[in-house]
Amino acid sequence: MTRRRATRADKPPWHPFKTERNMNRKNKKCVLAYSGGLDTSTIVVWLRERGYEIHAVLVDVGQDEDLEALRAKAIRLGAASAVVCDAKPEMLRSVAPMAIALNATYESNYRLGTALARPFIAAQQVRVAKQLGGATLVHGATGKGNDQIRFEFAYRSLAPEFPVLAPWKVWDLAGREEMIGYLRDHGVHDDFEVTKTYSFDENLWHLSVEGGALEDPSAALDVEKVLSAVANRFCVGPVGCSGVSPVEVTFCEGVPVALDGVPLPLGDLLKMLNQDFRFAPWAWDLVIENRFTGIKSRGLYINPAAKLLHTAVDALARTCLNKRTYDEYVQLGRTYGEIIYRGEYFSDQREVIEAAGRAVLKRLSGAVTVSPFPVPYASRVCADAAIFRKSLATFEASDYAHADAAGFIHLSWLSSCGRHVEEPIDGALEAGDSTGSDVCADQHEPERRLVSAGV
Ligand code: ARG
Repeated sequence: MTRRRATRADKPPWHPFKTERNMNRKNKKCVLAYSGGLDTSTIVVWLRERGYEIHAVLVDVGQDEDLEALRAKAIRLGAASAVVCDAKPEMLRSVAPMAIALNATYESNYRLGTALARPFIAAQQVRVAKQLGGATLVHGATGKGNDQIRFEFAYRSLAPEFPVLAPWKVWDLAGREEMIGYLRDHGVHDDFEVTKTYSFDENLWHLSVEGGALEDPSAALDVEKVLSAVANRFCVGPVGCSGVSPVEVTFCEGVPVALDGVPLPLGDLLKMLNQDFRFAPWAWDLVIENRFTGIKSRGLYINPAAKLLHTAVDALARTCLNKRTYDEYVQLGRTYGEIIYRGEYFSDQREVIEAAGRAVLKRLSGAVTVSPFPVPYASRVCADAAIFRKSLATFEASDYAHADAAGFIHLSWLSSCGRHVEEPIDGALEAGDSTGSDVCADQHEPERRLVSAGV
Protein backbone atom coordinates (compact mmCIF):
# COMPACT_ATOMS: atom_id res chain seq x y z
CA MET A 1 0.00 0.00 0.00
CA THR A 2 1.45 3.36 -0.92
CA ARG A 3 1.37 5.93 1.82
CA ARG A 4 0.07 9.33 0.91
CA ARG A 5 2.26 12.16 2.15
CA ALA A 6 0.70 14.09 4.98
CA THR A 7 -0.52 17.45 3.86
CA ARG A 8 -1.08 20.61 5.82
CA ALA A 9 -4.82 19.85 5.87
CA ASP A 10 -4.14 16.62 7.79
CA LYS A 11 -2.55 18.43 10.66
CA PRO A 12 -4.59 19.40 13.65
CA PRO A 13 -4.37 23.11 14.50
CA TRP A 14 -1.94 22.51 17.36
CA HIS A 15 0.66 20.86 15.19
CA PRO A 16 4.09 22.57 15.04
CA PHE A 17 3.06 24.15 11.73
CA LYS A 18 1.71 26.77 14.05
CA THR A 19 4.75 27.08 16.30
CA GLU A 20 8.09 28.83 16.18
CA ARG A 21 9.41 26.54 13.43
CA ASN A 22 6.95 28.14 11.13
CA MET A 23 6.65 31.66 12.35
CA ASN A 24 3.75 33.56 10.99
CA ARG A 25 5.55 35.30 8.15
CA LYS A 26 2.85 37.68 7.02
CA ASN A 27 1.41 38.83 10.31
CA LYS A 28 4.36 40.11 12.35
CA LYS A 29 2.23 41.17 15.27
CA CYS A 30 2.98 39.42 18.51
CA VAL A 31 1.63 39.61 22.04
CA LEU A 32 4.22 39.01 24.73
CA ALA A 33 3.55 38.13 28.37
CA TYR A 34 5.95 40.77 29.68
CA SER A 35 7.08 40.65 33.32
CA GLY A 36 9.76 43.33 33.26
CA GLY A 37 12.52 40.86 34.17
CA LEU A 38 15.68 40.04 32.24
CA ASP A 39 14.19 37.24 30.13
CA THR A 40 11.17 39.06 28.77
CA SER A 41 13.13 42.31 28.38
CA THR A 42 15.65 40.46 26.23
CA ILE A 43 12.77 38.95 24.29
CA VAL A 44 11.42 42.42 23.41
CA VAL A 45 14.75 43.39 21.87
CA TRP A 46 15.17 40.00 20.19
CA LEU A 47 11.71 40.18 18.62
CA ARG A 48 12.25 43.77 17.54
CA GLU A 49 15.44 42.68 15.78
CA ARG A 50 13.37 40.09 13.90
CA GLY A 51 10.88 42.65 12.67
CA TYR A 52 8.03 41.89 15.02
CA GLU A 53 5.49 44.46 16.09
CA ILE A 54 5.48 43.76 19.82
CA HIS A 55 2.45 44.25 22.04
CA ALA A 56 3.50 43.74 25.63
CA VAL A 57 0.94 42.59 28.19
CA LEU A 58 1.78 43.08 31.84
CA VAL A 59 -0.63 41.06 33.86
CA ASP A 60 -1.35 42.04 37.41
CA VAL A 61 -1.70 38.81 39.39
CA GLY A 62 -0.96 40.50 42.71
CA GLN A 63 2.81 40.92 42.41
CA ASP A 64 4.01 43.83 44.49
CA GLU A 65 5.69 45.74 41.66
CA ASP A 66 5.41 49.10 39.96
CA LEU A 67 3.59 47.84 36.88
CA GLU A 68 3.31 51.31 35.35
CA ALA A 69 7.12 51.65 35.43
CA LEU A 70 7.45 48.22 33.82
CA ARG A 71 4.94 49.17 31.15
CA ALA A 72 7.06 52.23 30.30
CA LYS A 73 10.15 50.02 30.20
CA ALA A 74 8.56 47.72 27.60
CA ILE A 75 7.91 50.73 25.38
CA ARG A 76 11.44 52.01 25.93
CA LEU A 77 12.83 48.62 24.86
CA GLY A 78 10.89 48.76 21.62
CA ALA A 79 7.37 47.47 22.14
CA ALA A 80 4.77 49.08 19.87
CA SER A 81 2.27 48.99 22.74
CA ALA A 82 2.20 47.90 26.34
CA VAL A 83 -0.83 47.46 28.57
CA VAL A 84 -1.38 46.54 32.18
CA CYS A 85 -4.22 44.05 32.63
CA ASP A 86 -5.66 43.07 35.96
CA ALA A 87 -6.24 39.31 36.25
CA LYS A 88 -6.79 39.39 40.01
CA PRO A 89 -10.59 39.67 39.94
CA GLU A 90 -10.86 36.64 37.67
CA MET A 91 -8.40 34.60 39.76
CA LEU A 92 -10.20 35.52 42.96
CA ARG A 93 -13.54 34.61 41.46
CA SER A 94 -12.56 31.28 39.96
CA VAL A 95 -9.44 29.36 40.86
CA ALA A 96 -8.38 30.81 44.21
CA PRO A 97 -11.58 30.01 46.17
CA MET A 98 -11.55 26.45 44.83
CA ALA A 99 -7.86 25.95 45.62
CA ILE A 100 -8.51 27.04 49.20
CA ALA A 101 -11.79 25.20 49.68
CA LEU A 102 -10.48 21.90 48.31
CA ASN A 103 -7.22 22.25 50.26
CA ALA A 104 -5.54 21.68 46.91
CA THR A 105 -1.84 20.92 46.81
CA TYR A 106 0.55 19.26 44.41
CA GLU A 107 2.44 16.31 45.88
CA SER A 108 0.95 17.29 49.26
CA ASN A 109 3.18 20.28 50.02
CA TYR A 110 3.24 22.68 47.06
CA ARG A 111 0.29 25.06 47.36
CA LEU A 112 0.29 25.91 43.64
CA GLY A 113 0.90 29.68 43.70
CA THR A 114 2.59 30.05 40.29
CA ALA A 115 0.37 27.44 38.69
CA LEU A 116 -2.76 29.29 39.77
CA ALA A 117 -1.80 32.45 37.92
CA ARG A 118 -0.34 31.28 34.60
CA PRO A 119 -3.60 30.42 32.79
CA PHE A 120 -4.95 33.87 33.61
CA ILE A 121 -1.85 35.60 32.25
CA ALA A 122 -2.23 33.58 29.05
CA ALA A 123 -5.94 34.45 28.86
CA GLN A 124 -5.13 38.17 28.95
CA GLN A 125 -2.60 37.71 26.14
CA VAL A 126 -5.19 35.90 24.05
CA ARG A 127 -7.73 38.66 24.69
CA VAL A 128 -5.28 41.31 23.44
CA ALA A 129 -4.29 39.15 20.45
CA LYS A 130 -7.93 38.82 19.46
CA GLN A 131 -8.41 42.58 19.73
CA LEU A 132 -5.49 42.96 17.33
CA GLY A 133 -7.20 40.61 14.89
CA GLY A 134 -4.65 37.83 15.44
CA ALA A 135 -1.06 37.66 16.60
CA THR A 136 1.72 35.29 17.60
CA LEU A 137 1.62 34.52 21.32
CA VAL A 138 5.01 34.79 23.02
CA HIS A 139 6.12 33.78 26.51
CA GLY A 140 9.46 33.92 28.30
CA ALA A 141 9.44 30.50 29.99
CA THR A 142 12.35 28.16 29.39
CA GLY A 143 12.09 24.68 27.95
CA LYS A 144 12.79 23.09 31.34
CA GLY A 145 9.90 23.97 33.57
CA ASN A 146 6.17 23.82 34.04
CA ASP A 147 5.42 27.39 33.04
CA GLN A 148 5.99 26.79 29.31
CA ILE A 149 3.40 24.00 29.49
CA ARG A 150 0.89 26.12 31.41
CA PHE A 151 1.21 28.99 28.91
CA GLU A 152 1.04 26.83 25.85
CA PHE A 153 -1.81 24.61 27.09
CA ALA A 154 -3.83 27.75 27.77
CA TYR A 155 -3.00 29.22 24.34
CA ARG A 156 -4.07 26.01 22.64
CA SER A 157 -7.29 25.81 24.61
CA LEU A 158 -8.25 29.44 24.09
CA ALA A 159 -6.85 30.25 20.66
CA PRO A 160 -5.48 27.21 18.81
CA GLU A 161 -5.44 29.27 15.62
CA PHE A 162 -2.68 31.60 16.87
CA PRO A 163 0.98 30.70 16.41
CA VAL A 164 3.14 30.32 19.51
CA LEU A 165 6.69 31.49 19.94
CA ALA A 166 8.89 30.57 22.90
CA PRO A 167 12.23 32.31 22.27
CA TRP A 168 14.02 30.18 24.87
CA LYS A 169 13.46 27.18 22.60
CA VAL A 170 14.95 28.77 19.52
CA TRP A 171 17.53 31.38 20.40
CA ASP A 172 21.16 30.74 21.22
CA LEU A 173 21.35 32.83 24.38
CA ALA A 174 22.42 30.31 26.99
CA GLY A 175 21.87 32.19 30.24
CA ARG A 176 21.77 35.49 32.14
CA GLU A 177 25.25 36.55 31.15
CA GLU A 178 24.53 36.04 27.45
CA MET A 179 21.21 37.88 27.70
CA ILE A 180 22.83 40.85 29.44
CA GLY A 181 25.61 40.86 26.82
CA TYR A 182 23.01 40.74 24.05
CA LEU A 183 21.12 43.68 25.56
CA ARG A 184 24.34 45.71 25.88
CA ASP A 185 25.15 44.99 22.24
CA HIS A 186 21.75 46.43 21.43
CA GLY A 187 22.23 49.57 23.48
CA VAL A 188 20.30 48.51 26.57
CA HIS A 189 22.27 49.18 29.73
CA ASP A 190 19.61 48.47 32.35
CA ASP A 191 20.77 47.31 35.70
CA PHE A 192 20.31 43.55 35.51
CA GLU A 193 22.48 41.54 37.90
CA VAL A 194 24.66 39.02 36.07
CA THR A 195 24.59 36.60 38.98
CA LYS A 196 21.14 36.93 40.38
CA THR A 197 20.93 34.31 43.08
CA TYR A 198 17.32 33.21 42.76
CA SER A 199 14.38 33.18 40.40
CA PHE A 200 11.28 34.68 41.99
CA ASP A 201 7.64 34.51 41.09
CA GLU A 202 5.19 36.52 43.11
CA ASN A 203 1.43 36.80 43.10
CA LEU A 204 -1.48 37.24 45.47
CA TRP A 205 -0.92 33.71 46.73
CA HIS A 206 2.79 33.25 47.22
CA LEU A 207 6.37 34.15 46.55
CA SER A 208 8.34 31.33 44.96
CA VAL A 209 12.10 31.24 45.28
CA GLU A 210 14.00 28.86 43.03
CA GLY A 211 17.43 28.40 41.48
CA GLY A 212 20.94 28.86 42.83
CA ALA A 213 21.91 26.64 45.73
CA LEU A 214 18.24 26.13 46.54
CA GLU A 215 17.52 23.73 43.72
CA ASP A 216 19.92 21.00 44.86
CA PRO A 217 18.41 18.91 47.69
CA SER A 218 21.91 17.93 48.87
CA ALA A 219 22.71 21.56 49.76
CA ALA A 220 21.60 22.67 53.21
CA LEU A 221 19.23 25.62 53.09
CA ASP A 222 21.08 28.86 53.79
CA VAL A 223 18.29 30.64 55.65
CA GLU A 224 20.20 33.90 56.13
CA LYS A 225 20.96 34.13 52.44
CA VAL A 226 17.37 33.45 51.48
CA LEU A 227 16.07 35.92 54.05
CA SER A 228 18.25 38.70 52.70
CA ALA A 229 17.22 37.85 49.12
CA VAL A 230 13.52 38.01 49.90
CA ALA A 231 13.75 41.15 52.03
CA ASN A 232 11.26 43.74 50.79
CA ARG A 233 9.61 41.24 48.50
CA PHE A 234 6.14 39.83 48.86
CA CYS A 235 4.95 40.61 52.35
CA VAL A 236 8.39 39.91 53.76
CA GLY A 237 9.42 43.39 54.78
CA PRO A 238 12.08 44.31 57.30
CA VAL A 239 12.51 41.61 59.92
CA GLY A 240 9.89 41.99 62.59
CA CYS A 241 7.48 39.94 64.55
CA SER A 242 4.99 37.59 63.04
CA GLY A 243 1.40 37.48 64.25
CA VAL A 244 1.01 35.07 67.14
CA SER A 245 -2.59 35.59 68.18
CA PRO A 246 -5.25 33.15 67.04
CA VAL A 247 -7.40 34.17 64.11
CA GLU A 248 -10.98 33.13 63.48
CA VAL A 249 -11.78 32.36 59.86
CA THR A 250 -15.41 32.19 58.79
CA PHE A 251 -16.11 29.93 55.83
CA CYS A 252 -19.12 29.89 53.53
CA GLU A 253 -19.23 26.66 51.53
CA GLY A 254 -15.49 26.19 51.90
CA VAL A 255 -14.55 29.74 50.97
CA PRO A 256 -13.21 32.14 53.62
CA VAL A 257 -15.41 35.20 53.91
CA ALA A 258 -14.43 36.86 57.21
CA LEU A 259 -11.53 37.23 59.63
CA ASP A 260 -12.32 37.60 63.33
CA GLY A 261 -15.94 38.23 62.39
CA VAL A 262 -15.15 41.04 59.94
CA PRO A 263 -16.38 40.25 56.40
CA LEU A 264 -13.63 40.70 53.81
CA PRO A 265 -13.29 40.19 50.07
CA LEU A 266 -11.03 37.23 49.38
CA GLY A 267 -8.20 39.36 47.97
CA ASP A 268 -8.03 41.51 51.11
CA LEU A 269 -8.28 38.48 53.34
CA LEU A 270 -5.31 36.81 51.59
CA LYS A 271 -3.30 40.01 51.76
CA MET A 272 -4.02 40.50 55.43
CA LEU A 273 -3.01 36.97 56.40
CA ASN A 274 0.11 37.10 54.21
CA GLN A 275 1.04 40.36 55.88
CA ASP A 276 0.35 39.25 59.45
CA PHE A 277 2.15 35.93 59.26
CA ARG A 278 4.95 36.87 56.91
CA PHE A 279 7.71 35.94 59.33
CA ALA A 280 6.17 32.77 60.65
CA PRO A 281 8.71 29.99 60.11
CA TRP A 282 5.88 27.62 59.17
CA ALA A 283 4.93 29.89 56.26
CA TRP A 284 7.90 28.55 54.30
CA ASP A 285 7.49 25.29 52.41
CA LEU A 286 10.77 23.88 51.15
CA VAL A 287 9.60 21.52 48.46
CA ILE A 288 11.42 18.85 46.46
CA GLU A 289 9.27 18.80 43.38
CA ASN A 290 8.66 16.54 40.38
CA ARG A 291 8.07 18.92 37.53
CA PHE A 292 5.66 17.91 34.77
CA THR A 293 8.71 17.68 32.50
CA GLY A 294 10.14 15.03 34.84
CA ILE A 295 12.94 17.27 36.08
CA LYS A 296 13.43 17.28 39.85
CA SER A 297 14.18 20.48 41.66
CA ARG A 298 13.84 22.05 45.06
CA GLY A 299 12.13 25.35 45.65
CA LEU A 300 10.98 27.51 48.50
CA TYR A 301 7.43 28.79 48.67
CA ILE A 302 6.40 31.52 51.08
CA ASN A 303 2.64 31.25 51.48
CA PRO A 304 1.35 32.07 54.95
CA ALA A 305 -2.27 32.74 54.01
CA ALA A 306 -2.63 29.59 51.95
CA LYS A 307 -1.12 27.41 54.66
CA LEU A 308 -3.26 28.86 57.40
CA LEU A 309 -6.45 28.65 55.36
CA HIS A 310 -5.69 25.09 54.30
CA THR A 311 -5.25 24.12 57.96
CA ALA A 312 -8.58 25.72 58.79
CA VAL A 313 -10.62 24.29 55.93
CA ASP A 314 -9.25 20.80 56.52
CA ALA A 315 -10.39 20.96 60.15
CA LEU A 316 -13.82 22.07 58.98
CA ALA A 317 -14.00 19.20 56.48
CA ARG A 318 -12.95 16.69 59.14
CA THR A 319 -15.71 17.97 61.38
CA CYS A 320 -18.52 18.17 58.83
CA LEU A 321 -17.97 15.31 56.40
CA ASN A 322 -18.49 11.67 57.16
CA LYS A 323 -15.49 9.40 56.69
CA ARG A 324 -16.17 8.31 53.12
CA THR A 325 -17.02 11.83 51.98
CA TYR A 326 -13.93 13.21 53.68
CA ASP A 327 -11.83 10.65 51.78
CA GLU A 328 -13.42 11.84 48.53
CA TYR A 329 -12.78 15.45 49.52
CA VAL A 330 -9.09 14.71 50.05
CA GLN A 331 -8.94 12.99 46.67
CA LEU A 332 -10.69 15.93 44.97
CA GLY A 333 -8.10 18.34 46.42
CA ARG A 334 -5.32 16.12 45.21
CA THR A 335 -6.76 15.81 41.71
CA TYR A 336 -7.49 19.52 41.51
CA GLY A 337 -3.90 20.21 42.56
CA GLU A 338 -2.58 17.92 39.81
CA ILE A 339 -4.79 19.57 37.18
CA ILE A 340 -3.74 23.07 38.15
CA TYR A 341 -0.09 22.13 38.46
CA ARG A 342 -0.06 20.63 34.97
CA GLY A 343 -1.63 23.77 33.51
CA GLU A 344 -4.90 22.08 32.58
CA TYR A 345 -7.11 24.84 33.88
CA PHE A 346 -9.08 25.10 30.64
CA SER A 347 -10.16 21.48 30.65
CA ASP A 348 -13.23 19.32 31.10
CA GLN A 349 -11.59 17.50 33.99
CA ARG A 350 -11.19 20.71 35.95
CA GLU A 351 -14.88 21.49 35.46
CA VAL A 352 -15.88 17.99 36.56
CA ILE A 353 -13.76 18.17 39.70
CA GLU A 354 -15.09 21.62 40.54
CA ALA A 355 -18.68 20.42 40.14
CA ALA A 356 -18.02 17.48 42.45
CA GLY A 357 -16.17 19.83 44.79
CA ARG A 358 -19.12 22.20 44.99
CA ALA A 359 -21.40 19.33 46.05
CA VAL A 360 -19.07 18.50 48.94
CA LEU A 361 -18.33 22.11 49.84
CA LYS A 362 -22.02 22.82 50.53
CA ARG A 363 -21.40 21.31 53.96
CA LEU A 364 -18.36 23.41 54.78
CA SER A 365 -19.73 26.54 56.42
CA GLY A 366 -18.70 27.61 59.88
CA ALA A 367 -15.97 29.31 61.89
CA VAL A 368 -12.51 27.91 62.59
CA THR A 369 -10.10 29.45 65.04
CA VAL A 370 -6.51 28.89 63.96
CA SER A 371 -3.71 29.30 66.46
CA PRO A 372 -0.52 30.16 64.62
CA PHE A 373 2.03 29.09 67.20
CA PRO A 374 4.24 27.09 66.96
CA VAL A 375 2.61 25.86 63.75
CA PRO A 376 -0.93 26.62 62.62
CA TYR A 377 -3.52 24.31 64.12
CA ALA A 378 -7.29 24.54 64.37
CA SER A 379 -8.02 25.13 68.02
CA ARG A 380 -11.80 25.43 67.59
CA VAL A 381 -14.28 24.43 64.90
CA CYS A 382 -17.92 25.56 65.03
CA ALA A 383 -20.23 24.48 62.22
CA ASP A 384 -23.93 23.83 61.89
CA ALA A 385 -23.25 20.76 59.80
CA ALA A 386 -20.80 19.29 62.33
CA ILE A 387 -21.26 15.54 62.58
CA PHE A 388 -19.63 15.38 66.01
CA ARG A 389 -22.00 14.11 68.74
CA LYS A 390 -20.88 14.39 72.32
CA SER A 391 -22.96 11.41 73.45
CA LEU A 392 -21.13 9.24 70.92
CA ALA A 393 -17.61 10.44 71.53
CA THR A 394 -17.56 10.91 75.28
CA PHE A 395 -15.67 8.67 77.69
CA GLU A 396 -18.30 9.54 80.29
CA ALA A 397 -21.66 7.79 80.80
CA SER A 398 -24.19 8.38 78.02
CA ASP A 399 -27.15 6.62 76.45
CA TYR A 400 -24.87 4.98 73.87
CA ALA A 401 -25.44 1.20 73.68
CA HIS A 402 -21.92 -0.28 73.82
CA ALA A 403 -23.35 -3.72 73.01
CA ASP A 404 -24.28 -2.53 69.49
CA ALA A 405 -20.61 -2.52 68.65
CA ALA A 406 -20.42 -6.32 68.95
CA GLY A 407 -22.67 -6.86 65.93
CA PHE A 408 -20.93 -4.08 64.05
CA ILE A 409 -17.54 -5.70 64.60
CA HIS A 410 -18.76 -9.14 63.62
CA LEU A 411 -20.39 -8.07 60.36
CA SER A 412 -17.51 -5.75 59.47
CA TRP A 413 -15.08 -8.58 60.15
CA LEU A 414 -17.08 -10.90 57.90
CA SER A 415 -17.01 -8.48 55.00
CA SER A 416 -13.42 -7.31 55.38
CA CYS A 417 -11.43 -10.27 56.70
CA GLY A 418 -13.86 -13.05 57.61
CA ARG A 419 -12.44 -16.56 57.14
CA HIS A 420 -11.79 -19.69 59.15
CA VAL A 421 -8.51 -19.41 60.98
CA GLU A 422 -7.30 -22.95 60.56
CA GLU A 423 -3.65 -22.47 61.30
CA PRO A 424 -2.21 -20.18 63.93
CA ILE A 425 -0.62 -17.20 62.15
CA ASP A 426 3.15 -17.39 62.41
CA GLY A 427 2.76 -19.35 65.64
CA ALA A 428 1.55 -16.22 67.37
CA LEU A 429 -1.85 -17.62 68.16
CA GLU A 430 -0.90 -20.89 69.87
CA ALA A 431 -3.74 -23.17 71.08
CA GLY A 432 -4.49 -22.41 74.67
CA ASP A 433 -2.68 -19.07 74.40
CA SER A 434 -4.82 -16.44 76.03
CA THR A 435 -4.72 -14.18 72.94
CA GLY A 436 -5.37 -17.06 70.54
CA SER A 437 -8.27 -18.60 72.41
CA ASP A 438 -10.64 -15.83 71.36
CA VAL A 439 -9.99 -16.21 67.65
CA CYS A 440 -13.15 -17.38 65.88
CA ALA A 441 -12.41 -20.82 64.52
CA ASP A 442 -16.04 -20.93 63.50
CA GLN A 443 -17.59 -17.96 61.80
CA HIS A 444 -20.97 -18.67 63.47
CA GLU A 445 -19.51 -18.58 66.93
CA PRO A 446 -19.89 -14.84 67.47
CA GLU A 447 -23.62 -15.05 66.75
CA ARG A 448 -23.94 -17.86 69.33
CA ARG A 449 -22.05 -15.73 71.79
CA LEU A 450 -24.29 -12.73 71.11
CA VAL A 451 -27.40 -14.90 71.56
CA SER A 452 -26.11 -16.42 74.78
CA ALA A 453 -25.36 -12.92 76.02
CA GLY A 454 -29.05 -12.11 75.48
CA VAL A 455 -28.48 -9.63 72.64
N1 ARG B 1 8.10 25.25 40.53
C1 ARG B 1 6.95 26.06 40.70
C2 ARG B 1 5.89 25.71 39.71
O1 ARG B 1 6.17 25.04 38.75
C3 ARG B 1 7.30 27.53 40.65
C4 ARG B 1 7.68 28.06 39.32
C5 ARG B 1 8.13 29.49 39.40
N2 ARG B 1 8.38 30.03 38.09
C6 ARG B 1 9.31 30.95 37.84
N3 ARG B 1 9.39 31.35 36.60
N4 ARG B 1 10.14 31.41 38.72
O2 ARG B 1 4.77 26.10 39.86
